[in-house]
Amino acid sequence: MQIDIISLLPSLLESPLNHSILKRAQNKGLVNINIHNLRDYSTHKQKQVDDYQYGGGAGMVLMIEPIVNCIEYLKAATKYDDIIYMSPDGELLNQNISNEISLKKNILILCGHYKGIDERVREHFITREVSIGDYVLTGGELAANVLIDSVARLLPGVLNNETSALEDSFQDNMISPPVYTRPSEFRGMKVPEILLSGNEKLIQNWRTEQSIERTKKRRPDLL
Ligand code: ADE
Repeated sequence: MQIDIISLLPSLLESPLNHSILKRAQNKGLVNINIHNLRDYSTHKQKQVDDYQYGGGAGMVLMIEPIVNCIEYLKAATKYDDIIYMSPDGELLNQNISNEISLKKNILILCGHYKGIDERVREHFITREVSIGDYVLTGGELAANVLIDSVARLLPGVLNNETSALEDSFQDNMISPPVYTRPSEFRGMKVPEILLSGNEKLIQNWRTEQSIERTKKRRPDLL
């Protein structure tokens, strides 16, 4: 999968992409992530990328010209399945959306800033808008990192069997069961006996029950 990101603050995106599982996925060639600095596509002398909004009002707006310059430059080399704008008024990210996006070959992600981007970009160039929650961030970078992390870990070969994405919370609209590791007893707090029994069938049944109970209690909306 190829993921291109357009951002005004590339360094804000970099760290999460360069650690642990995401770093390994890129090194193995399972995902190719490229960051493009929006400012490089400004034709202004001072590399301006934002301006006051028509009609007045607080907050700067990212201008259409550098964004379209950048999108068109990238589109000349790559055919994108989706051009995604990270925005608090987009569709709310969930596991289904991450699954869906993980099946795409090439995606382009645009990170907004300030008051947002010129609406004409959204109307004519963006194919999908994604929000990571009902709150407003200072820019789309952190949101893009969340989206990329949740998508990349679903790509074949990125996780090994032990960390398989199939058993994640939300993957079947259920919360995961509790997990424990050694020691089996710590200051009188014991691991449920059944997990030490070695009986795979009983353990699987217990995990399913726990999943159902947890989902009922914590996220009844999922059921
Ligand atoms: N940009 C600013 N806030 C955001 C949010 N909640 N989700 C996605 N992009 C954003």
